[in-house]
Amino acid sequence: MKRILFVCLGNICRSPSAEAVFRAKVEDAGLSDAFEIDSAGTLAYHQGKPADARMMEHAARRGYMLTSIARKVLLRDLEQFDLLIAMDDDNYRELRDLAANDAERAKVRRMMDYAPETGVSEVPDPYYGGAAGFERVLDLLETACGNLLKALR
Ligand code: 4NP
Repeated sequence: MKRILFVCLGNICRSPSAEAVFRAKVEDAGLSDAFEIDSAGTLAYHQGKPADARMMEHAARRGYMLTSIARKVLLRDLEQFDLLIAMDDDNYRELRDLAANDAERAKVRRMMDYAPETGVSEVPDPYYGGAAGFERVLDLLETACGNLLKALR
């Protein structure tokens, strides 16, 4: 069993989408039993809320249902998950700072490091932008999550 936690700032746009896109790829590969997949945010502000309605709509058009309820990342996530995958460099730094030791720090990765072919190092925050930003998030996540699964199987 591999436990994967996707992490962004609010846990209402990028990381719930990463969770849904990666889950779909895992299901398509028939590997659902081999993975535990979750998401969290470094900010507590949206805790308890479903994903952003705009993000949900863009994702649904591609067949992804965002079911996650926002929660803040916890210290014990660094113990319990095998990989914590940050959407951008701020999320990455925050997770590294939360880590209690080198073993936990080594579990923290950047989402776009799995997709060097995109030439992009972060999944851009779509929250204050328009429709194109949400589509961009999904494009980047489809590439990166596909490569992540290849790297893990
Ligand atoms: P996310 O997007 O980190 O992809 O969930 C954001 C959601 C909310 C805020 C920022 C980014 N916010 O400032 O409330």
